[in-house]
Amino acid sequence: MAANATDDRKNSAIPDIEALAHPTLDERGRQRFCSALRRFAIQDMPEAVRRDFEQRVKPAGEARGTQFDTARAIEHALEDEPIYQLYSSLRYNAQEMCFLSVQDEVERVLPDMIDVARDAAERNPAGGSLRLDPELEIPRYLDALDVHLTPGCFHNEWVADDVAQGAVVSLGARVFTASMSHRSWGGAARVMSRWIRHAYPDFQPQRMLDLGTSSGKNLLPYLEVFPDVEAHGVDIGAPLLRYGHALAEHQGAPIHFSQQNAEAMDFPDGHFDMIVSSFFFHEIPVKATRNALRECRRLLRPGGLMVHLELPATHLVDAWEDFFWNWDTEHNNEPFYTAFRAQDPIELMAEAGFTADRSFAHILPDLGAYPDRRDAFAWDEPGRPRHGKGGWYVFGSSLAE
Ligand SMILES: C[S@@+](CC[C@H](N)C(=O)[O-])C[C@H]1O[C@@H](n2cnc3c(N)ncnc32)[C@H](O)[C@@H]1O
Repeated sequence: MAANATDDRKNSAIPDIEALAHPTLDERGRQRFCSALRRFAIQDMPEAVRRDFEQRVKPAGEARGTQFDTARAIEHALEDEPIYQLYSSLRYNAQEMCFLSVQDEVERVLPDMIDVARDAAERNPAGGSLRLDPELEIPRYLDALDVHLTPGCFHNEWVADDVAQGAVVSLGARVFTASMSHRSWGGAARVMSRWIRHAYPDFQPQRMLDLGTSSGKNLLPYLEVFPDVEAHGVDIGAPLLRYGHALAEHQGAPIHFSQQNAEAMDFPDGHFDMIVSSFFFHEIPVKATRNALRECRRLLRPGGLMVHLELPATHLVDAWEDFFWNWDTEHNNEPFYTAFRAQDPIELMAEAGFTADRSFAHILPDLGAYPDRRDAFAWDEPGRPRHGKGGWYVFGSSLAE
């Protein structure tokens, strides 16, 4: 009997680590409130701030000779205005509350989550793997603050084999995006993989890498489009990787997760024919971006393709949009936003060894907003959506055979 029970366990599927968390009715209510508050703060309220700026603040400033052709000029004019201060404090608190709203449910089931992750790491029934490096030095740009107000950031651990930050980041992000229009969870990778299939119909990647993969939710959709690809994800945070590995093994997805700094990875030259990332570069200093892109060049084999989903570069948007994006630099513990966005991605890629004529930076149609559209938008195309509002900004390059 005991032997059978052991065999059953050995052969059983990995339970869904995410389904272990059960918010109470009160917690669920709070989470719904946080989702709605964040949507209001980030989608609806900026429109009211903009109207007030256009109708009142700007004309008054222009009458005094001020020009509003930069994000800094707009910010300077608005920072003492009550409507901007209300918007800014709502946006800050909504962001923080989304992550705080899932902490209790995670804490209650943490030992069970850790058991599931340990089981997945021991057995790898889907054929993936988890490689951690307890000696890996966490760069100061992540260690010095809780990035985008996620309590505990990405890498902190409090108990052996901790997965708490994986759960908080993953479940918190669900609250965070729950009521946002034009997008669905895992949407970024769905959009990118669908576009790659459409734009490069003969491209059949054998081995792919996702930089800053977190728990791999924006890596999994690539396996739907390229079922035979050998998928690798690197991240600095062990709790994210343990959690993501358990999720992938539960889903039967053979993903190889490793704890590495994307600035210097241990894969051999030319190891991958597809390298992707989403929401990664704006969180690291420009120097680290340069290092990571050099690593992409080293790791990409001839004929390979690289695509990164990011925040649109300053020179591609107007002053108001620039101002909107740069809010995070000072208020959301993402101090590299403005400096990253000030770079021309084509130049950054050229510095890393990619040729400008094979490089691109454009907006891809979101599946939710444009289910039938497959081509990237031209910058001057009438009705082109903004990043995050029906479209996603990507930059990338490819190598000749
Ligand atoms: C905003 S998250 C994006 C996560 C995921 N790509 C997504 O689309 O949801 C950025 C991730 O990059 C990771 N990260 C930051 N700096 C890194 C570095 N130097 N090397 C590897 N991962 C890093 C963080 O731990 C975090 O999980």
